[in-house]
Amino acid sequence: MDLKEKYGSLALIAGASEGIGAAYAHHLAAAGINLVLVARRKEQLEQFAAELTTRYGIETICIQEDLADTDAADRIAEHIKAYEINLFIYNAGNSYIGKFEEQTWKVHKDIAMTNMITPLQLVYSIAPDMLKRGKGAIILMASLAGFQGTPFIATYAATKAFDQILAEGLWYEWKNRGIDVIACCAGATSSPNFINTNPGKQHFMAPKVQKPEEVVSECFKRLGKTPSFITGRANKVASFFMQRVLSRKKSVTTMGETTKKMYRV
Ligand SMILES: NC(=O)c1ccc[n+]([C@@H]2O[C@H](COP(=O)([O-])OP(=O)(O)OC[C@H]3O[C@@H](n4cnc5c(N)ncnc54)[C@H](OP(=O)(O)O)[C@@H]3O)[C@@H](O)[C@H]2O)c1
Repeated sequence: MDLKEKYGSLALIAGASEGIGAAYAHHLAAAGINLVLVARRKEQLEQFAAELTTRYGIETICIQEDLADTDAADRIAEHIKAYEINLFIYNAGNSYIGKFEEQTWKVHKDIAMTNMITPLQLVYSIAPDMLKRGKGAIILMASLAGFQGTPFIATYAATKAFDQILAEGLWYEWKNRGIDVIACCAGATSSPNFINTNPGKQHFMAPKVQKPEEVVSECFKRLGKTPSFITGRANKVASFFMQRVLSRKKSVTTMGETTKKMYRV
């Protein structure tokens, strides 16, 4: 699919400077799409943007913003109001691994802001212009963790369920109005953020960790065809087993035991 021809020439990626977000940026830049890139670390973001410009000859705009901030979406909307955003990818995710009660309220609130409220508000402010133009694409990053309660990342998992359900509902509402919405439900992916969580050795049956580029390339293949999808064959098989074979109680328990072992909780 020619993304530029189908959707237009400018994309906004929230959480863009590394990992899956950077892979989205490379994929779109290679298609000749100019980028508005959002992240917290300004220097790293600007360096990444410069690399994209040199390599693909595209134009970039960098916005330094903390997506956990209650006013972040307002400030980003103000920043981009002069531009026509054709594709919007909300990639950044915030998580905490450990016992629910051992973390501060601020940490839980920041997870909810970054993963639910800010993407919700950005979709709310960006989609009306797409609808007026009758074309556009919106990708929300979700997770296999959001398919059932996931102990020791309970808040994160609940927010990822929100992202998936939001994208699926909007997929239906907008599918005949030219806007393709999709939730990309990833499993373990080798982003710096995932590597920094220092996961222990995984069970031999656990799906192989994917590369960010694999996740992104599958996402663009599925965009416009389905409201949500699970990345990678092994994740699809594992998810089928967890959701369709095991009872809900067993699937939550399995997630709890796996997370406990993997992160030595
Ligand atoms: N990696 C996995 O195994 C995995 C599995 C399932 C689902 N997912 C989902 O996939 C998405 C991407 O995950 P990821 O592992 O690539 O890493 P990530 O930490 O969610 O995203 C990294 C990018 O987002 C930026 N970012 C993170 N928090 C931000 C904030 N509060 N404000 C602004 N920018 C922020 C980072 O730059 P700065 O640090 O400079 O801000 C960086 O550019 C997430 O939504 C995650 O839930 C990931």
